Amino acid sequence: MQNIIKSAVIGDPISHSLSPFLHQYLLNKYKIHGSYQAIEIKSQNLEEQINKMLFKENFAGFNITIPHKEKIFEIALKQNFKITKTVQIIKSANTIYKENNEIIVDNSDYFGFYKNLEFATNINFNKNKALIIGAGGASRAILYSLLKNNFKEIHITNRDIEKADQLKKEFITTKNQEIKIIKDLNSINDNDFDLIVNTTSLGMKNQPKLEIDLQKITNKNTIIYDIVYNPLITDFLKQAQNLNLKTITGIGMLIFQAFLGFEKWFKIKPELSNEEFEELTKILINRL
Ligand code: ATR
Repeated sequence: MQNIIKSAVIGDPISHSLSPFLHQYLLNKYKIHGSYQAIEIKSQNLEEQINKMLFKENFAGFNITIPHKEKIFEIALKQNFKITKTVQIIKSANTIYKENNEIIVDNSDYFGFYKNLEFATNINFNKNKALIIGAGGASRAILYSLLKNNFKEIHITNRDIEKADQLKKEFITTKNQEIKIIKDLNSINDNDFDLIVNTTSLGMKNQPKLEIDLQKITNKNTIIYDIVYNPLITDFLKQAQNLNLKTITGIGMLIFQAFLGFEKWFKIKPELSNEEFEELTKILINRL
């Protein structure tokens, strides 16, 4: 019998990860002889464990999650793994795979974010003005994604405004693009956004909610996107739904970010029909 292709997600804690269920769904769909485990690895053992998985236990690769998404960077530099351009810009990695005798350290969050936006809107939205709430790791991936996909004006707001300023300094725009900083969420009424996305942990189970007044939104076509998926419908999204604004939940970003690793490890580019997406969403939500 053919050897099983092994993959995993590594993090700490990891027992609540939805990724094993997500990958199992895709493995079943494509009838692949593969595995995807959730493996808890402590920070102090990260390098040793990664080497063991890649070079002794013959893993095809794995996802990396909290708290290792940045530390993996140092290890990759030390060990001459190939760090993709995307990871160099976003400064965090979530997917490792082997290609042409190299270990590749990549990030698929930016792709997952955008694919979910396209999937939820049938690629039919205005790419003019966006507002990103937050300036952490997820925000970097999303800013990268919006710039790459030609959004013209991207506003960023964050509790620590210096971090938002830093993003503006760091990220390169084309001559038709501009990054602007908004100091106070209460001043959003002056702007006609096509997309507002929460990239912070606010609204997540056991976290304070995101304080924003969406009644100030003048554009009734504004898409309200929350990358938080637990709960699936956050207070931010509830407020938007009550105002009849289009909403996008974070579960799709989780689903689509998984595609890069799946394709690289198992050599099949996954696709989901609307029905399969709904079915998989239900499976994942039931595990929350
Ligand atoms: P991730 O990798 O998930 O983006 P992160 O890099 O720690 O995680 O970023 C968390 C984001 O949530 C940041 O924008 C953070 O704001 P600060 O940069 O000001 O810390 C935001 N955040 C977390 N808790 C918050 C809170 N209680 N109020 C406002 N913003 C919060």
